[in-house]
Amino acid sequence: MQIAVLGGTGVLGAPVVRDLAARGHTVRVLTRTPPTDPVPGTVHHPVDLATGAGLDKALEGVSTVVDAANHTGARSAKVLVEGVRSLLAAEQRAEVGHHVEISIVGCDQVPFAYYRSKVAQEHVVTQGPIPWTLLRATQFHELIDQILGLSAKLRVAPHSSMRFQPVDVTAVAARLADAAEAGPSGRVRDVGGPAVHTLTELATARREILGHALLPVPVPPLGRIARRLRDAALCLDDSGEAVSFDYAEWVRRRYGKPRS
Ligand SMILES: NC(=O)c1ccc[n+]([C@@H]2O[C@H](COP(=O)([O-])OP(=O)(O)OC[C@H]3O[C@@H](n4cnc5c(N)ncnc54)[C@H](OP(=O)(O)O)[C@@H]3O)[C@@H](O)[C@H]2O)c1
Repeated sequence: MQIAVLGGTGVLGAPVVRDLAARGHTVRVLTRTPPTDPVPGTVHHPVDLATGAGLDKALEGVSTVVDAANHTGARSAKVLVEGVRSLLAAEQRAEVGHHVEISIVGCDQVPFAYYRSKVAQEHVVTQGPIPWTLLRATQFHELIDQILGLSAKLRVAPHSSMRFQPVDVTAVAARLADAAEAGPSGRVRDVGGPAVHTLTELATARREILGHALLPVPVPPLGRIARRLRDAALCLDDSGEAVSFDYAEWVRRRYGKPRS
């Protein structure tokens, strides 16, 4: 298949590109900046979702689009919501047959501006002109590690009852590649990591594995967002699929600290 991956250089997009290419598909990587380490056989097309520039040329002859682009800043709605609207219009002009979208487990439960953009993005896709598949995933290990890594630089470890179920991004990428191959399937089963942990537990695991001396700093669950996270709003319910390995294992692999 000719498959275009929007955001194919990102934390999720890069393993999606690798997975699809390994399965023998012809893959186009659509981002503003070319990949620094392109996957052999893939071709980069410059596009900007914020303006629509480059989309028509990039989608010529493409049968399936996987959207793994992202923008978390103040312009998240511009890139995620208006961007996906321009993308779907370009897909319609190019006669693309399948749009695969990634979203976030519980994004409709947590009143966070970025999540509001994700809910609006889901709405544009599910009400849009292109047959679609929508997968929701929990937080990637990389995101949890980024938060705890920043705290560790300040020599602190957050002590918080907020709950997460971090997932291995390559397992999410494989689900998106499966979805691309399966054809339009609507909302598919949510995917997440194998275990729910409080932020305290995740911070403790990282601190112990990496041997850091950090000051525990309590983060009380103040406000609706924190309370929803404490109540595990971003974690799978019973219908979700728990996959792969947990955050502690990810830390060991990422930082070369084998289990002793
Ligand atoms: N991170 C998580 O924990 C998590 C969990 C569940 C779901 N998700 C979802 O997964 C998706 C990908 O997230 P991620 O964390 O992998 O993102 P990321 O690492 O920040 O990657 C973003 C990608 O989007 C591209 N991009 C950004 N702005 C663009 C624009 N204006 N036009 C075209 N491409 C643009 C970037 O390339 P250029 O900058 O070169 O354009 C890059 O390839 C998002 O939809 C996110 O909501 C993320």
